[in-house]
Amino acid sequence: MVKKICGIGAGYVGGPTMAVIALKCPSIEVAVVDISHSRISAWNSDKLPIYEPGLEEVIQQCRGKNLLFSTDIEKHVYEADIIFVNVNTPTKTSGLGAGKAADLTYWESAARMIADVSRSNKIVVEKSTVPVRTAEVIEKILVHNSNGMVKYQILSNPEFLSEGTSIQDLLNPDRVLIGGNDKNLGGQEAIQKLKAIYANWVPEDRIITTNLWSAELSKLADNAFLAQRISSINAMSALCEATGADVSQVSCVLSKNTKLGSKYLNASVGFGGSCFQKDILNLVYICESNGLVEVANYWKEVIKVNDYQKSRFVKKVVTSMFNTVSGKKIAVLGFSFKKDTSDTRKTPAIDVCKGLLADNACLSIYDPRVSEDQIRTDLSTNEIRWDCSTQVKPASFTNVKQVSVFGDVYEATKDAHGICVLTEWDEFKTIDYQKIFDSMEKPAFVFDGRNVLDVDKLKKIGFIVYSIGKPI
Ligand code: NAD
Ligand code: UGA
Repeated sequence: MVKKICGIGAGYVGGPTMAVIALKCPSIEVAVVDISHSRISAWNSDKLPIYEPGLEEVIQQCRGKNLLFSTDIEKHVYEADIIFVNVNTPTKTSGLGAGKAADLTYWESAARMIADVSRSNKIVVEKSTVPVRTAEVIEKILVHNSNGMVKYQILSNPEFLSEGTSIQDLLNPDRVLIGGNDKNLGGQEAIQKLKAIYANWVPEDRIITTNLWSAELSKLADNAFLAQRISSINAMSALCEATGADVSQVSCVLSKNTKLGSKYLNASVGFGGSCFQKDILNLVYICESNGLVEVANYWKEVIKVNDYQKSRFVKKVVTSMFNTVSGKKIAVLGFSFKKDTSDTRKTPAIDVCKGLLADNACLSIYDPRVSEDQIRTDLSTNEIRWDCSTQVKPASFTNVKQVSVFGDVYEATKDAHGICVLTEWDEFKTIDYQKIFDSMEKPAFVFDGRNVLDVDKLKKIGFIVYSIGKPI
């Protein structure tokens, strides 16, 4: 009988995932622990550390009953029957594999701590996205650091939620994947125990079991395929612009092909988020380490096209505005990597803004959910490039004086020469564009990086409009 679950890592995955388990398994105590005191105190407050539709309601229903957030990591690990490890697995920034390989430092330190404090048998669940065969490494760390009395079963249970819809995705997942070692009795029992947790709300035919390595690799493959589709339609968008075709029409045609399906066909300024690029680079590194250079190069192209899409957008803005944006005010609407989240990790807005700033534009940024501090931090951080290329890099923006951040869309757009829509927030469809046009410099440009605006209406008002993959 599982009485207690501990989730290590209270981030975008750990918080919502563990909360939904608590909601659906009221007889199990769920403790979510983290080394970050500020994150845990936010989870214990009225202002949660992340914005997700529906999350507050779930937390309110369970917190203080069978769900708790704590920094007392060791106590809760010691008491738990199942430990979900939800820690971050970013791209390595230095050393062997820098820029590509996954950094397993956080995972390793969590595993060492589990080995130190455990005095009873544990099921350790890899929830984080990890390189294929990580379970082998984790097992070695656990076994070699424990007193031999404690038995560990390692399962891979990658998470498929998307930010902005994570509660919906967790409550009604299209699949739950459990990878384990079913060659021994302990492994079989562990798989059954985890399956039984999910079976409280997920139909059994949606719970897939595989071996450990298939589960670990499927997660990387899943993200790589999704990102590849976006890069494919984005590559088509460039060809549409060159030929007079309309990418929305092309997408519509493709979406009716039942062999292709309708999702992930929205051309955009580029995909963002903490995972697509990181996980593809992780895949590339694994391929290279296995001598599969052609396979590695194939997946690299997905990221190259994404980088191309962002720089193409910046180029379009600059060339359309008479080859210079120097000193011109450009309003940036939307900074998060997609709508309905405050997350800005790897948002295309960072590269687009840096590109425009490098051309000396003055940016006025508005996002309904992202704080000014976050925007300034993102724009002043110089990240290591994945391909170590010498291509033109934006200047270092330790001092982002050219940037203003507004809490009101009309303030942000006042006196601007152009508007760049970089996130598809619903509210951008319904704002008063006539009022905005009247307050802007002329000619007034709109660059719709998400193809969400009513182009005909904007043109009627008098805007010069550029959309992704559409005739001007
Ligand atoms: P995150 O950075 O939001 O959260 C990770 C948390 O782990 C942080 O709060 C950090 O303080 C904590 N942590 C790190 N080391 C720790 C330790 N040793 N002990 C206790 N706490 C520790 O990351 P995230 O977005 O939640 O992603 C976590 C993992 O899930 C990653 O591997 C990611 O690839 C994967 N994933 C993310 C998403 C997503 O939408 N964000 C979706 C599916 C999978
Ligand atoms: C993605 C996957 O969809 C999840 O299955 C996965 O669990 C998660 O990564 C992860 O491993 O982190 P997420 O990054 O939250 O989820 O969001 P998506 O909705 O997939 O969007 C990613 C990016 O692609 C966003 O910038 C979005 O705007 C962009 N996108 C998406 C497009 O440009 N076009 C599309 O058609 C779809």
